[in-house]
Amino acid sequence: MEKVVSGIRPTGNLHLGNYFGAVRSFVKMQDEYDCMFFIADWHSLTTHPKPGDIQQSARTILAEYLACGIDPKKAPIYVQSDVPETLELYLYLNMNMYLGELERVTTFKEKARKQPDNVNAGLLTYPTLMAADILQHRAAKVPVGKDQEQNMEQARKCARRFNNIYGVDFFPEPQNFYFSDQAIKIPGLDGSGKMGKSEGNCIYLRDDDKTIRKKVMKAVTDAGPQEPNSPRPEVIENLFTFLRIVSSPEVYAHFDAQWNDCTLRYGDLKKQIAEDLCAMVAPIRERIEAFSADVDLLDRIAREGAEVARASAAATVREVRKIIGFRV
Ligand code: TRP
Repeated sequence: MEKVVSGIRPTGNLHLGNYFGAVRSFVKMQDEYDCMFFIADWHSLTTHPKPGDIQQSARTILAEYLACGIDPKKAPIYVQSDVPETLELYLYLNMNMYLGELERVTTFKEKARKQPDNVNAGLLTYPTLMAADILQHRAAKVPVGKDQEQNMEQARKCARRFNNIYGVDFFPEPQNFYFSDQAIKIPGLDGSGKMGKSEGNCIYLRDDDKTIRKKVMKAVTDAGPQEPNSPRPEVIENLFTFLRIVSSPEVYAHFDAQWNDCTLRYGDLKKQIAEDLCAMVAPIRERIEAFSADVDLLDRIAREGAEVARASAAATVREVRKIIGFRV
């Protein structure tokens, strides 16, 4: 079975956009591939988080992924900093990466612009660490967002260069697996095209019923359908996108018909979406709460995941040491 590895940024809570994007595609992939997922807490050091926040952020995101259906028996899930083997590979790979090419990576340029007082070397070599995350498991596929394209290009370069320099065929070149290609894009309910943390328009998997209802009822609409069978403006189509995702086909057909014969009342539509959304989110939220309350379980899952990851990484690093010429 092909190996799949992906990293998860431990920033904040999951929202519906994440759920219908990365999260659901990870859950699906765990049945189809030999998957491993990890929480990228080393990468988060580029912004110098507070020591007291680090483990909590990792547990939060771990609880949420588990609640969404990541099954550690199918796909070990670990915390990056529990696998020190990665760092040895990171060092070797860095010897083959060049300042100029790392400076040209868009995510580096953006971060350098956003945090001009903290353009640290870790930020520059972020793609090398990411390459080490992937190559330590000799993974074939990496589910990522489109924003990771250049980082993935660097990871392939790392693999290729290592193979060329030592005349071996050791590292496979990891391929991007864009989950957005099969994901449902979740719109914002504020009239913006996309649900996102920076847009401040998110419905979170941790939101309770009351919060969800409030957010849905506030959704931007217009004056209502004017002519039978007219195309829907974007803000209204956004509501129908929600309806399609959370309600039954019959309910969708009902409101679609009402739109077409101009009898649709947005209040009814929003109420329907709110109730169906609450029903969808509630069991996930309850599982998040249950996992979050059981720190021992979370830590055990992470520890067991790390054992699998360390065995895999250690085997790779051992071969790499031999290839480079070190004692093993
Ligand atoms: N850079 C990725 C992001 O920002 C997170 C990440 C770190 C990652 N290491 C990785 C993703 C390895 C895939 C593989 O989302």
